[in-house]
Amino acid sequence: MQAPIKLKVESPSNIAIVKYWGKKGHQLPMNASMSFTLSESKTIMEMEYTYSPTFSLEFYFDNEMNLKFQNKIEKKLLEFSEHLPFIKNAKLVISSKNTFPHSTGIASSASAMSALAFGISKIAVQLNLLAEDQLQVMSSNLARLGSGSASRSIFPFASIWGENKYIAEASNEYAIGIGETIHPVFKTLQDAILIVDDKEKAVSSTVGHELMNGHPHRESRLNFAENNLKLLLDALRNGDFEQFSKVAEHEALDLHSMMMTSTPSFILLSPESLAIISKIREFRALTNELITFTIDAGPNIHVLYPAESKVKVELFLENLYNAGLCKRIIKDKVGSGPKAF
Ligand code: PMV
Repeated sequence: MQAPIKLKVESPSNIAIVKYWGKKGHQLPMNASMSFTLSESKTIMEMEYTYSPTFSLEFYFDNEMNLKFQNKIEKKLLEFSEHLPFIKNAKLVISSKNTFPHSTGIASSASAMSALAFGISKIAVQLNLLAEDQLQVMSSNLARLGSGSASRSIFPFASIWGENKYIAEASNEYAIGIGETIHPVFKTLQDAILIVDDKEKAVSSTVGHELMNGHPHRESRLNFAENNLKLLLDALRNGDFEQFSKVAEHEALDLHSMMMTSTPSFILLSPESLAIISKIREFRALTNELITFTIDAGPNIHVLYPAESKVKVELFLENLYNAGLCKRIIKDKVGSGPKAF
């Protein structure tokens, strides 16, 4: 009888600059996306594996048994078992928690699904069922099946998911790390998340992706995203913060314009989101500080700036908070990807 394998996995969320919006086939992206891997906003998952003739899962969230999440995770694990058949004969006990609050616009599905995928792949490595050099590709592929954007959380600093004209080895099935190719200024990137509203998202990403099917601007969105990827790759390589800012803001606003012009139409930005955007642009014009923003499918604003701008930008953000434009600020930064102990 084999001893149980126990693992503690920590896996971060990520923030996309070129957005994944629209899917095809089975969890494949309509366009290639790029994101930074975060460091503070993460899922911590304790996993215990024992061999069993039949599959079983016990799942705890925040130390309490959670049947809703258990059913969801069970479905994902059974899907993963097509790639890692040992899961069919696994008795798993998983206990999960996040370091960040729910519904703050931080993608908990990205951190949770990457933690689950990374953890189960790591167990496969320990069982000699997966080669160590296949760990990232397998984890990213499984994470994608859980939640598309989760595929990008597996890599240090930055990654790209989706086939594109510029990177031959990029794939629709798993993301690839580009951390080694980016300028040092971007490795110090800070992400301060201005929480404008912490209510449940009005549009789930599943509904959001569907809005791109038959969208009147679909073709132009896909061309825009592909062109933005090229501009972004150049900016990341050359340390060109101005070009980076242009792409980040265009992509965030294009995501929202897609939602505004889809059927049904959604306006997720609130008056405070727009006020924050104006203030950021004013502050930048006045001070020449390196600062930009991105937004996911909600009203909260991710303010992006390198470590060298930290002191001045964070003073400015405190003023926005004191002016009542956001409820709180969650500070995060670029990080080095999942770990298992
Ligand atoms: O991974 P999903 O299906 O939750 O989609 C994420 C979509 C965005 O967060 C809006 C953009 C992105 O690329 O992360």
